[in-house]
Amino acid sequence: MSTPIKRIGVLTSGGDAPGMNAAVRAVVRTAAFYELDCIAIYRGYQGLIDDHTKIMNPRSVNNIINKGGTVLKSARCLEFRTLEGRKKAFGVIQKHNIDALVVIGGDGSFTGAMIFQKEFGIPVIGIPGTIDNDIFGTTHTIGYDTALNTVIDAIDKIRDTAISHNRLFFVEVMGRDAGHIALNTGVGAGAEEILIPEENMGLDRLLESLNRSEKSGKSSSIVVVAEGDKTGKNVFEIAEYVEKNMPHYEVRVSVLGHMQRGGSPSCFDRVLASRMGVEAVESLRAGKSNVMVGLKEDQMILTPLSKAIKGKSEINENLIRVSDILSL
Ligand code: F6P
Repeated sequence: MSTPIKRIGVLTSGGDAPGMNAAVRAVVRTAAFYELDCIAIYRGYQGLIDDHTKIMNPRSVNNIINKGGTVLKSARCLEFRTLEGRKKAFGVIQKHNIDALVVIGGDGSFTGAMIFQKEFGIPVIGIPGTIDNDIFGTTHTIGYDTALNTVIDAIDKIRDTAISHNRLFFVEVMGRDAGHIALNTGVGAGAEEILIPEENMGLDRLLESLNRSEKSGKSSSIVVVAEGDKTGKNVFEIAEYVEKNMPHYEVRVSVLGHMQRGGSPSCFDRVLASRMGVEAVESLRAGKSNVMVGLKEDQMILTPLSKAIKGKSEINENLIRVSDILSL
C-alpha cells in the first residue's frame, strides 16, 4: 500500500507552452480541493536543486489561466542529469516533506522524472506541455492548439504581402523534429507545399510542384517548412535553390521562431490543461505513479512514462493526402 499523498510538488520544465499556467492552476486548486498541500518549484529541476520553492494556495493561482508562458518559469538543467544533482534535488524534496511530484513538460522532462522516481521512489505524474505535440500517449499536448492558431494568423498575414508582390514565401515553423505544426497549419493556411521531417519529397519534386502551381495560374505561393525538415540544409538553402531554378519568381523567407511559444492560451488549451491538472492529482491520490496524463477520444488516459518517452506521435498520413489534393 503506497503512503498517502499529503504534499505535492509541481514544476514546469523544458520549452514553455501556452496553457502551462492553466495546468499549474488546476494542480494547485485540485490539491486544495482534496486538502493536500501544494508546493510550487520554480525554474524546473534547477529550482528543485536550488530549493526555489513556495507553498501555494488557491489564491496563489488567481488570474493566470489566460496567461501565456509559465509563472513557475522553466529552465533546461544539466545538473539534474547527474546523480549528484538528483541527490541534491531529493534533499529538497525531503526537506519540504514532498510526497509526490507533478512535472509539466515534454519528453526530456519526463525522462528526468522517470530516473528520479527510480532512484528515490518519489511518485511522479507527467502532464504533456509542449507546442510540438510530439509525445506518445495523447492526441494533444498543452500549447499545441494555441501554437497552431498563432502560426495560421502569421501565415495569413504573410499571404497578404505574397499576393501583393507575386512572391513565393518559405515560412519556417517550430516542432523541433516533428511536423505536426507544419502539416496542420499548412493545410489550414492553404499552403502550396508543406515540408516535414516525416517525409522527404526532395528539392526536385518541390520544384515540379511549384512549377505546376505557377502553370495553373498561381501568381504567389506559400511553402510551410518544419524546422526539422531534411529536404535541404535549412529553409534558406531551400529558398536559394528554388530562386536559382525559378528566376522569374521573387522568393522570401520568414522564420516564425519563438513567437509560436507565446500568447494567451486558446480555450481548447485552457480546458485541456485544467482537465489534465485535475487528473494528475486524482491519479496520485489513487496511488498511480510514473505515468503521463493524456487525451484520447475526449477522455483522460494514463500512459506509462517509459512508453510516452519512447513512443512516437505518428504524423497524420490522411492529412498529407488532403494537402496534396487541395494544393492543386
Ligand atoms: O520543444 C518546443 C520547442 O519550441 C521546439 O519546437 C523548438 O525547436 C525548441 O523548443 C526551441 O528550444 P529553445 O527554447 O531552447 O530555443
